Amino acid sequence: MEEGGRCVVVVLLVLMAMSQGCDAQNTTGSGLTRGSFPKGFVFGTASSAYQYEGAVKEDGRGPAIWDKFAHTFGKIIDFSNADVAVDQYHRFEEDIQLMADMGMDAYRFSIAWSRIFPNGTGQINQAGIDHYNKLINALLAKGIEPYVTLYHWDLPQALEDKYTGWLDRQIINDYAVYAETCFKAFGDRVKHWITFNEPHTVAVQAYDSGMHAPGRCSVLLHLYCKKGNSGTEPYIVAHNMILSHATVSDIYRKKYKASQNGSLGISFDVIWYEPMSNSTADVEAAKRAQEFQLGWFADPFFFGDYPATMRSRVGSRLPKFTTTEAALVTGSLDFMGINHYTTFYTKDDQSTVIEKLLNNTLADTATISVPFRNGQPIGDKANSIWLYIVPRSMRILMNYVKDRYNKPTVYITENGMDDSNSPFISLKDALKDNKRIKYHNDYLTSLADSIWEDGCDVRGYFAWSLLDNWEWSAGYTSRFGLYFVDYKDQKRHPKNSVKWFKNLLASSS
Ligand SMILES: *[C@@H]1O[C@H](CO)[C@@H](O)[C@H](O)[C@H]1NC(C)=O
Ligand SMILES: *[C@@H]1O[C@H](CO)[C@@H](O)[C@H](O)[C@H]1NC(C)=O
Ligand SMILES: *[C@@H]1O[C@H](CO)[C@@H](O)[C@H](O)[C@H]1NC(C)=O
Ligand SMILES: *[C@@H]1O[C@H](CO)[C@@H](O)[C@H](O)[C@H]1NC(C)=O
Ligand SMILES: *[C@@H]1O[C@H](CO)[C@@H](O)[C@H](O)[C@H]1NC(C)=O
Repeated sequence: MEEGGRCVVVVLLVLMAMSQGCDAQNTTGSGLTRGSFPKGFVFGTASSAYQYEGAVKEDGRGPAIWDKFAHTFGKIIDFSNADVAVDQYHRFEEDIQLMADMGMDAYRFSIAWSRIFPNGTGQINQAGIDHYNKLINALLAKGIEPYVTLYHWDLPQALEDKYTGWLDRQIINDYAVYAETCFKAFGDRVKHWITFNEPHTVAVQAYDSGMHAPGRCSVLLHLYCKKGNSGTEPYIVAHNMILSHATVSDIYRKKYKASQNGSLGISFDVIWYEPMSNSTADVEAAKRAQEFQLGWFADPFFFGDYPATMRSRVGSRLPKFTTTEAALVTGSLDFMGINHYTTFYTKDDQSTVIEKLLNNTLADTATISVPFRNGQPIGDKANSIWLYIVPRSMRILMNYVKDRYNKPTVYITENGMDDSNSPFISLKDALKDNKRIKYHNDYLTSLADSIWEDGCDVRGYFAWSLLDNWEWSAGYTSRFGLYFVDYKDQKRHPKNSVKWFKNLLASSS
């Protein structure tokens, strides 16, 4: 899950008055069946290690940057941490049964690097390998295919301490050793690997706004972060993640592909940007915002370089690929994972005010994106301040990806919405998530249209998320689950959306 990168910054800094949309809900008339999607289309739910596992000190796990960040005062909105989270480390068998009950085909989870290498490098922790073997085998025993993310933000703290993690090129080698260790240990059973979850969110939230671990930034004269440079570090970190994927893909193809026959993708976070007006300036601004989001991270894999707009606007702060690196990167992505939740209006902003104030990646885009036009929200709002519901964008985005990248294979690796975690809502009412049913129904309908009407090559859909869980800097305030989790006793309770997915997945194709 992501948090609307630049937009959160804009919302905080421009101090927009937010109003809430509250359209009437329509939960009737879902005509979707398995047959609404191509044969073999995969349905699953998604999760990540740090948001789910808990057990942070068990079986030799080393500390991750999010442990330190979550335990730093003022970083998490409800002062919580993920030491326990939803305890999936101990409850995975029960949770796999919940997936099986719904008829899910697949489960996307992430491996905690610091369970495999407690210090990031060096000695392998066999207990960590054993844990994920048990998890993978338990999934396969129920006919559920593992889709495994290698990096979902929980960098071993040791590597941050040793050489500032993603800012140093040494990370490419250490990540490659970790990834190869996972191919060796699990690759006989794992056929879909996601090397990175939302690298754009990492670059922007962790190194520009400073709202994610390791919390580096320079915006607002270092008032919020002690260290960092919001105008350079996001680009360096992005570059190292892109080179890390390419390096690992090369290793996989040379040493493992023939015997394991798997494929490697990245899950890109993509907000759809709609022009605020039909003026040429705003239409160009929306295109530019998208190039600074998806283009920044996907273009190198297809064209061997960053978008031309980024080259001209970021100038010498944008790292360059050598000829050898460009060749390594180009074509190294087997599929595109897309995490899509929401849509914003984008307007051109060439003023130098924000540029001077922030001097960051947002200023580089010379755009501003907000969920309102003339005081009207772009769609119904979920709980998170960045999550507005605009299902039509799914089809538009799929066409953008198809046209820009020449019809790549796509998996929707995240899509979903959250409710608030309110002490005033009874359990009974919290389970009535008809708004979530409508969300999935409408986004899936839009997705199906892109497949049948437009010929987009989409192979699967993962709902975020199986369970309510720990939502990064929003802590436990946000509930994205199909199952409600009572954090007092860790009991899982099916929301109405569980039944809805169960009916959809049981329908004939
Ligand atoms: C709800 O959706 C169904 C199916 O799309 C439609 O037929 C019906 O008119 C809608 N009802 C309302 C109140 O919008
Ligand atoms: C990790 O590093 C610490 C400190 O250098 C060391 O004591 C420990 O043995 C290392 N653990 C592993 C598993 O390599
Ligand atoms: C390899 O994977 C592809 C795509 O999933 C599949 O069509 C093919 O049969 C597999 N080949 C082998 C040798 O397993
Ligand atoms: C832009 O133009 C289209 C087509 O003429 C129109 O439907 C739409 O309302 C216009 N959008 C705005 C924001 O004016
Ligand atoms: C913005 O940041 C860049 C990179 O650190 C620096 O070279 C430049 O002087 C900064 N500009 C302003 C106006 O602070």
